[in-house]
Amino acid sequence: MDLPHRRSGGLSLPVVSLGLWQNFGSATPFADQRRLVLHAVDRGVVHLDLANNYGPPPFAAESSVGRLLATDLRRDELVITTKAGYRAWPGPYGEHGSRKYVLASLDESLRRLGTDRVDVFYSHRFDPHTPLEETLGALQSAVRSGKALYAGISSYSADRTVAALEVAQSIGLSLAVHQPAYSMLNRWVERPGADGRSLLDVASAAGMAVVAFSPLGQGVLTTRYLRGIPADSRVARGGPLRPEWLTGEVLDHVRALDAIAGAGGRTLPQLALAWVLRDPRVTSVLVGARTTDQLDDNLACTMGPPLEDDELAAIEPHAVDAGINLWGSRSSDL
Ligand SMILES: NC(=O)c1ccc[n+]([C@@H]2O[C@H](COP(=O)([O-])OP(=O)(O)OC[C@H]3O[C@@H](n4cnc5c(N)ncnc54)[C@H](OP(=O)(O)O)[C@@H]3O)[C@@H](O)[C@H]2O)c1
Repeated sequence: MDLPHRRSGGLSLPVVSLGLWQNFGSATPFADQRRLVLHAVDRGVVHLDLANNYGPPPFAAESSVGRLLATDLRRDELVITTKAGYRAWPGPYGEHGSRKYVLASLDESLRRLGTDRVDVFYSHRFDPHTPLEETLGALQSAVRSGKALYAGISSYSADRTVAALEVAQSIGLSLAVHQPAYSMLNRWVERPGADGRSLLDVASAAGMAVVAFSPLGQGVLTTRYLRGIPADSRVARGGPLRPEWLTGEVLDHVRALDAIAGAGGRTLPQLALAWVLRDPRVTSVLVGARTTDQLDDNLACTMGPPLEDDELAAIEPHAVDAGINLWGSRSSDL
């Protein structure tokens, strides 16, 4: 399938990318992981997003992709990304943004992946205790050593992105990608920062690709939770989607959005993804599909017509921040 791509600088990304945060760990048989990844790649989803701590447990998703790279996948047909920033191992050197942690983590990621470079290496979150010069200097070392082709940052606020871009420029580093959460229920990237510009404004002015994560709000922007909590769902598994976020108010918005989707001949996930992609400053939506059926449903977001003005107007009162931003409190106040 010819999945459309959007380009940012030299980096061309499919508009739908696959994230391996939750469904590539010890609870999922390797055969199921393999089926999903090979299906995705076959359908043109050639961007696989990883981090040292994905699985769960940490390291599992990178190890799985390493096995697939050794047997099934062709490295240079793929964009493979990884990150360091959250806790990956115990002790003071297993998280945050120090040079010691970031570069050790990249070496470990490369070993698990069995490759000598990743395409994008991200600072996974801003670290208030480490100077930006140090964290970004570590990314620069990664790029200069050839262990990463591009450098990125994730969940840095608009203001912190402005600061990071200034530091990056001063040390000769190009920050090519920003990876923020963005969905109809989490619109923080649209809010203005101190200089009046939103993160989307800042990133696009700097020529950064924007890879939007959790575009389905971890599964809230589907019909899965409209009749209770399914046994095989992220909430039932005790994952990072918290049951207390599924309030009556949130579910009323989801029901209304589902009706708008149906009226336009789309499923709710297709509407939610098309909505994030309506903004040309977004390069790719990073979905965390668990099954091939979910992925196929998501990929069909690229097949419908663009959202019409009347659909966007109908969506607006229901596309509201719903308090489901896990990264707001954990990621050093976005
Ligand atoms: N940089 C960061 O800090 C950060 C943080 C979070 C995520 N990410 C990246 O973003 C990726 C995606 O995040 P996410 O997993 O939260 O994304 P998401 O696509 O918003 O949510 C994925 C979940 O939604 C449900 N789902 C997906 N497609 C569906 C469909 N068509 N119909 C019904 N349900 C569907 C599944 O839930 P069930 O399992 O319940 O079926 C799936 O596990 C991650 O894998 C990771 O690569 C980055």
